[in-house]
Amino acid sequence: MHSYTYLQVAEQERVFTVTIRREEKLNAMNREMMAELTDCFGWLHRQDQARAVVLTGTGKAFMAGADIEGYHGFDMAQFFAFQDQGREMYRSIETCGKPVIAAVNGYALGGGFELALACDLIVASEKAKFGLPEVKLGLVPGGGGIQKIARAVGPYAAKELTMTGRFVTAAEGRIMQFVHQVTEPEALLETALKLAQDIAAQAPLAVQALKKLINEGRDASLETAQAYDRAYLASLFHSEDAKEGIAAFVAKRPPQFRGR
Ligand code: COA
Repeated sequence: MHSYTYLQVAEQERVFTVTIRREEKLNAMNREMMAELTDCFGWLHRQDQARAVVLTGTGKAFMAGADIEGYHGFDMAQFFAFQDQGREMYRSIETCGKPVIAAVNGYALGGGFELALACDLIVASEKAKFGLPEVKLGLVPGGGGIQKIARAVGPYAAKELTMTGRFVTAAEGRIMQFVHQVTEPEALLETALKLAQDIAAQAPLAVQALKKLINEGRDASLETAQAYDRAYLASLFHSEDAKEGIAAFVAKRPPQFRGR
């Protein structure tokens, strides 16, 4: 397993937990942390034994966004290199062939909220606070979060969130439907791991297909998206796992999926 400066990676029964560790700066992301996250999700994508991933933070924050101190003194080229690197990082999560669950322990602000939105499911502690406060800096979210939040909560709520930059609680996030589940702080990791285990027990290729089809189908026409659904179903039908799943059902035994 890789060793990182800002990340801790652990495994438990095919579920990997990635913990962001820059507690003294509320896990604000600098270029090295972004490179590490991109590398880590590329690595997880290639691990056959990884069936699901939980991403969380240490201390008071999941991630308080981009390292604003680092912005100070950036010229345009450096600023855009930073933003591009951020988008590459979010993409590495979106294209990771494993389901990724954000376990949001505290502040998820700016790029930190975008990080949670790049994940497949968001479980949040009662202490979590979500916000896109870039407007307070005279900026707008740069990691793709504007369009993502608008698609997640609708244009009216997205405008209110981005134009005021206010923070919303986990309970409000649940009502807005980007938070899947709210937990007591002490139960956050256990809840996220349980959800990860539930998904990890399913057929990996089917889970991977669902992630891709739902992520990519959202922006395609219904007809095109459903044509992709059908094409993936056809390829899954030929997989060893589908044969195993069907045979196990008929034999009334639990399936043994191998990701093939
Ligand atoms: N970039 C760089 N440093 C950050 C940071 C960020 N995004 N967010 C927090 N920090 C640092 C603070 O500067 C402080 O460092 P210091 O102890 O060396 O002074 C440390 O993390 C603790 O933060 P602090 O502000 O003292 O904690 P708080 O509990 O009083 O406030 C927040 C928490 C999240 C409300 C506040 O830190 C904040 O507004 N952060 C910026 C969030 C933001 O705008 N993110 C979007 C960036 S585009």
